[in-house]
Amino acid sequence: MGLVIAIDGPAAAGKGTLSKRVAQAYGFAHLDTGALYRAVGVSVLRAGGDPADAEAAAQAARALRPDDGILNDPALRNDDAAQAASKVAAVPAVRAALLEFQRTFAATPPGGAPGAVLDGRDVGTVVCPNADAKLFVTASVEVRAERRLKELRERGIPAIPSDVLEDMKARDARDSQRTVAPLLPAADAFVLDTSALDADQAFAAATAFIGTKT
Ligand code: C5P
Repeated sequence: MGLVIAIDGPAAAGKGTLSKRVAQAYGFAHLDTGALYRAVGVSVLRAGGDPADAEAAAQAARALRPDDGILNDPALRNDDAAQAASKVAAVPAVRAALLEFQRTFAATPPGGAPGAVLDGRDVGTVVCPNADAKLFVTASVEVRAERRLKELRERGIPAIPSDVLEDMKARDARDSQRTVAPLLPAADAFVLDTSALDADQAFAAATAFIGTKT
């Protein structure tokens, strides 16, 4: 088994950008575990179901074939997909169905890469509790809403600032308060608050920490 780096944190804290850069710098494979939950949410929505319906969500999770290209579907990036993801993610059977794929990715990264970076909400706590380095990347909810707003505008999607902030708070609450695998830093995670950092500074702080662990 190669090196495993776990990067968890709330939405729009900068963990996606950071994870991709870290993976590239070390030549590791990268898995955005949030895309798995988004894919489940989107397949429930496409089937005309309700993402909060535990049975429909569990069925979609068991039917998911993450290698078939679904993780790159642009529909996964929409806000509907994000909200649906955080609903299906609260269903224990959904989390259980997605666990094996994530652990296999970490243990035998695709392409024979010497290690893997997984980012999500529970990588350091549940998926890979023995990861070599764990980071918890966070930022204030206002900063994260601001970043999401900028991203939406860059993609040409009209958005109302107060709605974006409210959606962010709703998703934070669902992710933190659920009983199964709630969003929470692992005891041995390095907490990196990016509220006042740009992407380069966050990358420098992350690699300095990873260097002490690997
Ligand atoms: O990271 P991203 O915004 O794509 O995640 C979408 C949703 O998927 C999160 O709000 C969370 O509810 C869920 N998720 C999770 N566990 C993970 C990754 C994502 O519960 N490891």
